[in-house]
Amino acid sequence: MRKLMTSVAAAAFLMTGTATMARATESVEVLHWWTSGGEAAALEVLKKDLESKGIGWVDMPVAGGGGTEAMTVLRARVTGGNPPTAVQMLGFDIVDWAKEGSLGNLDEVANKEGWDKVVPTALQQFSKYDGHWIAAPVNVHSTNWVWINKEALDKAGGKAPTNWDELIALLDNFKKQGITPIAHGGQAWQDATIFDAVVLSLGNDFYKKAFIDLDPDTLGSPKMKEAFDRMTKLRSYVDDNFSGRDWNLASGMVIEGKAGLQFMGDWAKGEFLKAKKVPGKDFVCIRYPGTQGSVTFNSDQFAMFKVSADKIPAQMQMASSIESPTFQSAFNVVKGSVPARTDVPDSAFDDCGKKAIKDLAEANKNGTLMGSMAHGHANPAAVKNAIYDVVTREFNGDLSSDDAVKELVSAVAAAK
Ligand code: GAL
Repeated sequence: MRKLMTSVAAAAFLMTGTATMARATESVEVLHWWTSGGEAAALEVLKKDLESKGIGWVDMPVAGGGGTEAMTVLRARVTGGNPPTAVQMLGFDIVDWAKEGSLGNLDEVANKEGWDKVVPTALQQFSKYDGHWIAAPVNVHSTNWVWINKEALDKAGGKAPTNWDELIALLDNFKKQGITPIAHGGQAWQDATIFDAVVLSLGNDFYKKAFIDLDPDTLGSPKMKEAFDRMTKLRSYVDDNFSGRDWNLASGMVIEGKAGLQFMGDWAKGEFLKAKKVPGKDFVCIRYPGTQGSVTFNSDQFAMFKVSADKIPAQMQMASSIESPTFQSAFNVVKGSVPARTDVPDSAFDDCGKKAIKDLAEANKNGTLMGSMAHGHANPAAVKNAIYDVVTREFNGDLSSDDAVKELVSAVAAAK
């Protein structure tokens, strides 16, 4: 019965057209983890857009980069029979919720607006389930980036590193300058974000076999030991207080020149922009050395939950607003990400954004676009968390590289 009412209501509002999609009293309750300065600024773009269409915003922020905590809160809400209207979500988590039958159906909006033609297929595998649209992708981020303080780089000769040896030389130089070489926050998802890039730098094929195919031989290979050895080496360049630090505070260290660089997805750029820093002048963005031409992506999507019929018009309006090309440009310019549609011009984006858009298109064409392990686009949460656990213990010195390789093989096998 509820299902029937749902589709009748959806059809009714669609007939009324976009302008009158929702009445002023309507609102959406949105669960998300965008609580840093840059993230909040981007979210504001969405709130304002909806406000202009008469949709109110009921905020449900759950702090914690990467969304680990947000997903725990969501589980409690859904179990309690009271899901939010829309939830910021990553990759395989969306599919998992769809499998549980918890998500609504966006087909009418998606078909009317032709999402199939403009949303990259790499994202559609997470926005659709069983052929039906279940989520509205808002952006594409990628994890294999480095954010470098320009002044510190200039003092080191001004050349951005292109391979491992040059990276180590730069980190040593930062040390000589008396600044912390690597700004890092010791949280499992941040350690895993670096691991994405380190593994990718040892080869596209290696990344794919390890994280996408979960091939036991690759996970247990000498190359994987090398990846862990590199993590140990990088660990020697973080400061004593890194443990538990939030990622945006680490970005702040690079912004203020207290640290040389940060390995982080391009949401870090949102922090630099919020601090009025200019790419090329105050900071430099490069792909993690050895990963040029490849992209490990993650896309924030708003998964739309099954809600009562009266809430559907606002939910559909939100989905429609998110996919509008003007909104995609305005939002992603602030967020540090790139549009989740292929037809949005790059004119409003800064140099890092233009590079990100170009890199994404090229990687997609060349078969070097792969889902981020650290951000839920390579595997379902169970496997992701198993990898997190091993990576974090190794990074913190609780496991040797040799043992980490063995544990990785068995943890992944158990979680599959
Ligand atoms: C990622 C998400 C980004 C950013 C980041 C840190 O998983 O895709 O939008 O919010 O976490 O919170």
